[in-house]
Amino acid sequence: MDLKNLVAEYRLRVETHLEKVMQAEQPAPHLQQAMHYSLFNGGKRVRPVLVYMANQLLQGELKNADIPACAIEAIHSYSLVHDDLPAMDDDDLRRGKPTCHIAFDEATAILAGDGLQALAFDLLSSPDSSLEPRIQLQMMQSLAKASGNFGMVAGQSIDLCNVGKQVSLQQLELMHQHKTGALICSSIEMGALSSGKATEQDLHSLQQYAAAIGLAFQVKDDILDIEGDTATIGKPQGSDLAQDKPTYPALLGMAGAKQKLDLLNQQAHATIDGYGDAAAPLHWLADYIVERNY
Ligand code: IPE
Ligand code: IPE
Ligand code: MG
Ligand code: MG
Ligand code: MG
Repeated sequence: MDLKNLVAEYRLRVETHLEKVMQAEQPAPHLQQAMHYSLFNGGKRVRPVLVYMANQLLQGELKNADIPACAIEAIHSYSLVHDDLPAMDDDDLRRGKPTCHIAFDEATAILAGDGLQALAFDLLSSPDSSLEPRIQLQMMQSLAKASGNFGMVAGQSIDLCNVGKQVSLQQLELMHQHKTGALICSSIEMGALSSGKATEQDLHSLQQYAAAIGLAFQVKDDILDIEGDTATIGKPQGSDLAQDKPTYPALLGMAGAKQKLDLLNQQAHATIDGYGDAAAPLHWLADYIVERNY
């Protein structure tokens, strides 16, 4: 199958499942609307796609990847809703549409983020799951570590503390690894775990792959903040610059940032060489991250 079609199929798959999850009647319709708005405003679904790809690489059953795919997207959406808040990046546009706090209001956006975060763990811990409880627990641990104060939230804090400061390359990398890398690593890890067949060696190789594409993802995000245009990237171009955020282009220059991106892309390919043709989708995704214009 054409890999583009495969990715489209995975996107549709996670969206169908998320839609089902969000349709259940809830006690606060306004909150439900804001959560739904934030989940379905045109995300690329890169993290769920990674969950499915890792599951398939290890010949898992695809249906066992549905829950972690939904869970990671819920966490990602929450992180963006909060990231755009006035107290954080204060952005009005996300995926070409008004951000959650603009479309609703600030308090609702805070609550929608909170709700999406809890929803992820609600899904992963479901007693009806087709997954073994041991694997459910491993996934919950992976996602909790990756999203909390050892992962994404730590990265967001480092990001905000660094505003207007001169940081070293090492500090910048540490921030990116946490801010964006951690959730990408967890996507791959949960996908591998969902196969029920992941060996230590698999987890190790895939972790290295995830670390490389995770960092590449944010380097590209930083480049697009300068080179992309608002209509294409769906968020305000120049937001990092306007807020004096430390970014790869700011530190290495544009040419240096692009060189870094190439290097990470090569590293990503090398980490999964051992899987031969079975890893074709993961190779495709590593290139997509580097080439995407959004
Ligand atoms: C954007 O992530 C924020 C970062 C972590 C860099 P994505 O580019 O995956 O956002 P969507 O979900 O496709 O909008
Ligand atoms: C956001 O990073 C990362 C998370 C939400 C965890 P950015 O602030 O760079 O993301 P964009 O550029 O607003 O999408
Ligand atoms: Mg931010
Ligand atoms: Mg932002
Ligand atoms: Mg950015």
